Amino acid sequence: MTPYTLSELTLDDLPQMVLIESLCYDFGWSEKIFADCLTTGREMGYRCWKIEVAQEMAGYLIFQLVSDEATLLNVALHPGQQGKGVGKMVVEEALRAAGEGGATRFYLEVRPSNRRAIDLYLALGFVKSGLRRDYYPAAVGREDALLLTKPLEKIST
Ligand SMILES: CC(C)(COP(=O)(O)OP(=O)(O)OC[C@H]1O[C@@H](n2cnc3c(N)ncnc32)[C@H](O)[C@@H]1OP(=O)(O)O)[C@@H](O)C(=O)NCCC(=O)NCCS
Repeated sequence: MTPYTLSELTLDDLPQMVLIESLCYDFGWSEKIFADCLTTGREMGYRCWKIEVAQEMAGYLIFQLVSDEATLLNVALHPGQQGKGVGKMVVEEALRAAGEGGATRFYLEVRPSNRRAIDLYLALGFVKSGLRRDYYPAAVGREDALLLTKPLEKIST
């Protein structure tokens, strides 16, 4: 397992976030969306984590926690850091943090074509809970979003 550390994302991380996003997605988040997450998003329960491997930014995970619901908004690792177990561990940490924060359900949306991510979420106990038609932009037309949900144990700290 590759060792990694988590810390709070800051506005200084924006250039690297935009770079990793562009390497991971054809239709990714813009710099403005990331900047909003890091500023106003915090008032809306956004948790914004920077993932570092060997003191270098390797990726990020952003989720929202409101009352008893958590939603994964974005997780991405630099292609050079994918497939080493880091993504799975970090999503597990988000599930734990959401449970500790009072969430009883964790939601996410994923492209049906993103087999790797879907396999990861199913391995972590997510179940398919719905489909949003024509949700994502795609090279041709639009792509549906698969909704996945995982019930969480409410953890009292
Ligand atoms: C999705 C993502 C966060 C997963 O993180 P990761 O560190 O690459 O994944 P891990 O190494 O922790 O592997 C977790 C599971 O993914 C699958 N997986 C990982 N590498 C894989 C590969 N090269 N090929 C196929 N499946 C793979 C396996 O099912 C693995 O489970 P295992 O532990 O039983 O082997 C990462 O690949 C990524 O950033 N992808 C691009 C952005 C993205 O798609 N984000 C998700 C949007 S919903």
